[in-house]
Amino acid sequence: MEKLLDKNKKFFNKIARYYDNKIFLKYLTNSQNKMLDFIKIKENSKILDAGCGTGNLLHLLEKQNKKYNLSGIDISEEMLKIAKKKLINVKLKLQSTENIYFKESFDYVFSTEAFHHYSDYNLIMENFNKILKKDGKLIVLDFDFGFLLNKIFHSIEPGNSKMHSPEEFKRLFKQYRFKNVMQKRINLFLLLTIGKK
Ligand SMILES: C[S@@+](CC[C@H](N)C(=O)[O-])C[C@H]1O[C@@H](n2cnc3c(N)ncnc32)[C@H](O)[C@@H]1O
Repeated sequence: MEKLLDKNKKFFNKIARYYDNKIFLKYLTNSQNKMLDFIKIKENSKILDAGCGTGNLLHLLEKQNKKYNLSGIDISEEMLKIAKKKLINVKLKLQSTENIYFKESFDYVFSTEAFHHYSDYNLIMENFNKILKKDGKLIVLDFDFGFLLNKIFHSIEPGNSKMHSPEEFKRLFKQYRFKNVMQKRINLFLLLTIGKK
């Protein structure tokens, strides 16, 4: 059977050129701006966007002009190609969250709208913990439509591994030793979970 990771890579390579369509981009920008307003990142921070896709979050961060050190990883070459065009000073790597390798560690690791695509999310939580500095923050923004719609979305979206409920996210963060775990609904369908290493 085809591995979920390969399925996701194929799927996102195929849809990359349609990803930044006007309607979705507006929704994404609105949600990510709300998330950034809430988090208030410190200047000079080292930030990784894991599953950065076409680089929209990194673009918003770059526009803040706050001397951030920005990196992004993704498994889709085609999504990264689009990201490269809109970013100036960001290190982008073709790399999976299952296999993160960085010499440096980060103040913030983001995963936006990507967590439900991760097959081995236990390994990934361990990896996120490893690459964060002490007191660094893991920030996961992901869809939550409620129990029934989550089930339907899981069954129809290509490459969807698992929809985590708010309680499951909280448990997972605690299981991987994150402290001060808190959650906030960014809009009707997007849930933010934050934890400190
Ligand atoms: C729905 S897109 C979200 C992209 C971006 N974070 C955003 O908010 O627009 C999910 C992204 O996760 C990437 N992805 C899926 N599984 C991954 C993995 N295991 N490691 C790294 N990236 C992954 C996909 O290639 C895709 O670009």
